[in-house]
Parts: sequence; structure tokens; C-alpha cells
Amino acid sequence: MSPAGEKPLVLIGLMATGKSTVGRRVAVRHGWRFVDTDAVIVDRHGSIAEIFAQRGESGFREVEAAVVAEVLSGADGNTVVSLGGGSVLHERTQELLSMALVAYLDADVATVLPRLEGDTGRPLLADGAGEVWARLDRERRPVYEALADLVIDTRDATIDDVVNRLEEQVHRLGPAEGKDHGNDR
Ligand code: S3P
Repeated sequence: MSPAGEKPLVLIGLMATGKSTVGRRVAVRHGWRFVDTDAVIVDRHGSIAEIFAQRGESGFREVEAAVVAEVLSGADGNTVVSLGGGSVLHERTQELLSMALVAYLDADVATVLPRLEGDTGRPLLADGAGEVWARLDRERRPVYEALADLVIDTRDATIDDVVNRLEEQVHRLGPAEGKDHGNDR
């Protein structure tokens, strides 16, 4: 059973906050299934840059919403899911997240910028990674915070630190609360 009891553990947050690396690490450590929704999209539809180039951002969001809904609907207590940073803006995704234990990986520009150097796989950042990331942070932070059951501070933290902080916070909820921890969204 996942750290979240019968609920899947779902990681949200902006690009390059470590969602996939941390999610995979937690899943491997406990023998749970790990699903990265961006990876599912790429497997099925080609690279994210190609999808943006061919269908625009709105086309990408349609594909993304469908994949995320499928993954979240099929996720059980043995699953850890990492969501693409913008997927939480979709209403259906927000509804489905009410059935998960949602952890927000909170970061700042200084922490993510070194990871974004030379990154060509994230079309949204093409016009200046630092500025765009900071703008998206301002725009989306309220959404992430509203959806989150747990907020994990990743500033100046190694991936191991983040994994440990996440596990500590989930553990603190306890299995009973993890199953039915309730929140007011
Ligand atoms: C996006 C985040 C990316 C990817 C796409 C758009 C966003 O995923 O889905 O480039 O809108 O924040 P990661 O958060 O995994 O980088």
C-alpha cells in the first residue's frame, strides 16, 4: 500500500522542481508503481516540443488532459504519479485530484535555473527560462497551494533531501489519515 494509504500519491508543481525524479525514487524505494504523465504523452504522441509545434499549446493541453484523466482514474494506493506542471489548470484534473494525496514541490528560480540550462524539451521556456518560470510561479502558485495536501520545500535541497521530507510528511499523516485525510477543496 502506498505511503498515502489507499490513495495514490500525486506530485504537482512547476517545471524542473524534481517531480519525476522524486516520484520515481519514492516508488522504487517502496516497490510501488510510478507513472510520469509527460512520459506517457511522449510515448503515445511524440515529443512535447513536436506536439506544441504541430498543435499549439491548446492542442497539447487537450492531449494532456486526456492522459492525466486516464492515469489518475487508474491510479490506486500502489501508485505514485508525477503530473506535468500545467496539467492542474484543467478542471477535470482538479476534480480527480480530490481522490489523491497531493504533494506540491515548492521551489524558487535560483533552485531550478541550473537544471533548465540548455533544456530544449520545454517549449514554454523558450522565451527565457528564468523570466517565464518566475511568471508561471506567480500565476500558478495559488492553484498548487489550493490543491496541495502537503507542501514540500525544495529550495536548496538535494533530491535525497526532498525525498526524505516528502516521506516524513506523508508518514506524519499516518495510514488512517492518509486514506481519508480530508481537505476542504
Ligand atoms: C509544462 C510542464 C512540462 C510539460 C510541458 C508544459 C507546464 O512538464 O508538461 O512542457 O505547462 O508547466 P514538467 O512540469 O514535468 O516539466
